[in-house]
Amino acid sequence: MADDVTVGFKLYILMVLTVNATAYILLVRYTRSRDGPMYYSTTTVMMTELSKLCLSMLILIKEHSSIRGMIVDVYRNVFCKPSDTFKMCIPSCIYAIQNNLAFFALSNLDAATYQVTYQLKILTTAMFMVLMIGKSISRVQWGSLLLLFFGIALVQLDSANVKQGSHYNYTYGLVAILASCLCSGFAGVYFEKVLKGSDTSLWIRNVQMYLFGIASAFLGVLTKDGANIMENGFFYGYNNYIYLIIGIASIGGLYTSIVVKYTDNIIKGFSTAVSIVASVVCSYFLFDAMFGQYFIMGSGLVMLAIYLYSLPKPAPPKPASPKPAQVQTV
Ligand code: C5P
Repeated sequence: MADDVTVGFKLYILMVLTVNATAYILLVRYTRSRDGPMYYSTTTVMMTELSKLCLSMLILIKEHSSIRGMIVDVYRNVFCKPSDTFKMCIPSCIYAIQNNLAFFALSNLDAATYQVTYQLKILTTAMFMVLMIGKSISRVQWGSLLLLFFGIALVQLDSANVKQGSHYNYTYGLVAILASCLCSGFAGVYFEKVLKGSDTSLWIRNVQMYLFGIASAFLGVLTKDGANIMENGFFYGYNNYIYLIIGIASIGGLYTSIVVKYTDNIIKGFSTAVSIVASVVCSYFLFDAMFGQYFIMGSGLVMLAIYLYSLPKPAPPKPASPKPAQVQTV
């Protein structure tokens, strides 16, 4: 894939990512709040890492047009470069924690509250971008990030239907999301920094990530559900919905990495924000949902935030030019 991609392609990957994220949240919430045997979420996280590893290797086979080519590439760039490969240990462990936290949060909160609060990751991502890659964000852009967050919160206030029932523990859910936002910001920026800081291909980076991802997710399986799994089996409570969650999470993960390669983590955050507004607009036309005043105000804020964020930054002040040499007159 060429590095220069069209705006159309960028929009396409951002759109796939946002539809994917919404489907994932709704499905996880649905399966965690249903009655009946409950699957172990740690196993789902581990199966997702395994499936992403297989998909990345398939893509490498396609790129090299042979299985042998893929094996040679992985051998040379993953196993023969242990110190480079170990760089991916950190983000993959953090993502394993984040992916487990998502299940925990969605077991304790409704999908709408989860979706809004999770938008805080836009702010944590910006913070880590400044701290870790020295990205300069102007005051106007910081302001626009805050506006974006408030805009999304207003949109969701309109559609949120926060029911407190026996399934919910609001405080636990909220703490889990906040921790998730920190993980998302840190791991996202770390991955972007390593990916863009070397010539190693995206798919090799992903193979490195998912190898560690499987190991750290397996640790999660052992520590949290080990005893129960010994009794009931790894795939206890699995049904077609759980396989769908694994499929959606795998595609989402791969698209996330493509989006980060061709755009950046903050643009990824903006796209999710737009999708929240868009999904409410679609439900207006599809299901006759009504727009409330919060929705209109919130969408206005989101659009204003995007406009402000994309304004050109003021040019840095020019260094004072040396005084012209004085011409001596006799
Ligand atoms: O919410 P956020 O955008 O931070 O989620 C990123 C998701 O993408 C995580 O589930 C993570 O496991 C996944 N990911 C991936 N491959 C990458 C980077 C992220 O599967 N290279």
